[in-house]
Amino acid sequence: MLRGAELANLPVIEDAYLVVEDGVIADFGSMKNFSKNYPDDEILIGAILPCWCDSHTHLVFAGSRETEFVDKLKGMNYAEIAANGGGILNSVKKLNDTSEDELFNQSWKRLEEVSKLGTGAIEIKSGYGLTLEGELKMLRVIKKLKERSSLSIKATFLGAHTYPMQYKEDHQGYIDLIVNKMLPVIAKEKLADYIDVFCEQGFFSAEETETICKAGISYGLKPKLHVNQLNSIGGIETGIKLNSVSLDHLETLTDKDIELLSSTPLIQLQDEGRENRPVCTLLPTAAFFLRMPLQPARKLIDAGCTIALASDYNPGTSPSGNMNFVVSLSCIQMKMLPEEALNAATINGAYAMEVGEELGSITIGKKANLIFTKPIPSVAYLPYSFGSNFIDKVMIKGNFI
Ligand code: NIG
Ligand code: FE
Repeated sequence: MLRGAELANLPVIEDAYLVVEDGVIADFGSMKNFSKNYPDDEILIGAILPCWCDSHTHLVFAGSRETEFVDKLKGMNYAEIAANGGGILNSVKKLNDTSEDELFNQSWKRLEEVSKLGTGAIEIKSGYGLTLEGELKMLRVIKKLKERSSLSIKATFLGAHTYPMQYKEDHQGYIDLIVNKMLPVIAKEKLADYIDVFCEQGFFSAEETETICKAGISYGLKPKLHVNQLNSIGGIETGIKLNSVSLDHLETLTDKDIELLSSTPLIQLQDEGRENRPVCTLLPTAAFFLRMPLQPARKLIDAGCTIALASDYNPGTSPSGNMNFVVSLSCIQMKMLPEEALNAATINGAYAMEVGEELGSITIGKKANLIFTKPIPSVAYLPYSFGSNFIDKVMIKGNFI
């Protein structure tokens, strides 16, 4: 995990060799030191990078929302869109009208697409069901993706994405449904690794977030939370108090929020093998798509925080899972250095889903999840040449896809 100034540290070996054995990185170094002969060696002229570790997505969804997108371009505001059945509840309706098999097929296509764009590990959330059946359908689809895909996948239960229509005036009723009906089945069927809540004005308050997370924690689900996207309403205090693995979005931060994220005393959580301080996961393509000011990445890095970058792939606010663009945008609009953005999208993303010891960097013994690029003059060329596809091949666990 790279914190603060460490984030800019990205060692590069020119004229290098790399050995993959049994799906794992077995050796690498400078060609000057290369002595052995391998039967099926191959000479490459591009660069090799670790695959992207996309630690925040909503990749399982039904259909798309480009009609809403066009309505917004024509001047409709959020309230009007929502009144027309738009927003998260639009995706909820679509998802509940779609069969599990069809949902799996649509999601599989997206997973294949992002893997070709270099993503080797990904977190996927529920949150477009908002009924027991709908949430279970989403989580079972994620489970099936885990079983059938060679990518490393983590599942997050986001039943608290918004209040469904019938619970708009009965928040406690919906929280009870999450706590008493959804969580026990999810835990029994081992359908989720994490719990998430959209802590935001008009969605879930900091107190509601705490109640839901504590119930999740009692079933072994650690929090990874949506906080401070539009307003600062106490989600960061709550997230830190609950030892969240990551706090995500962070477009709207007060000085006190940054102080909390950077200066909460560090404690090693012995039984979990990690630190208490959450990874700050920035989702710049969501802010870009919503035409909002992007996250204050420089302030967070300079304060010493651990930053990860993720795509937030979802039908409403970031209908793209292209991590290459996330990295470019982070450099262009948030003034992250190319090395910082690459580290944030790989090793720190891996730690934001607790796979940092096995993925996210070119390290002997880690899984061989690798991007092979076309010839490039330098690392900085990757974010600089935004929108171009520099990927030649992608390897997942030792096999080219
Ligand atoms: O991460 N902020 C909350 N949820 C999603 C968007 C959901 C949607 O509009 O479908 C996000 O941006
Ligand atoms: Fe999200």
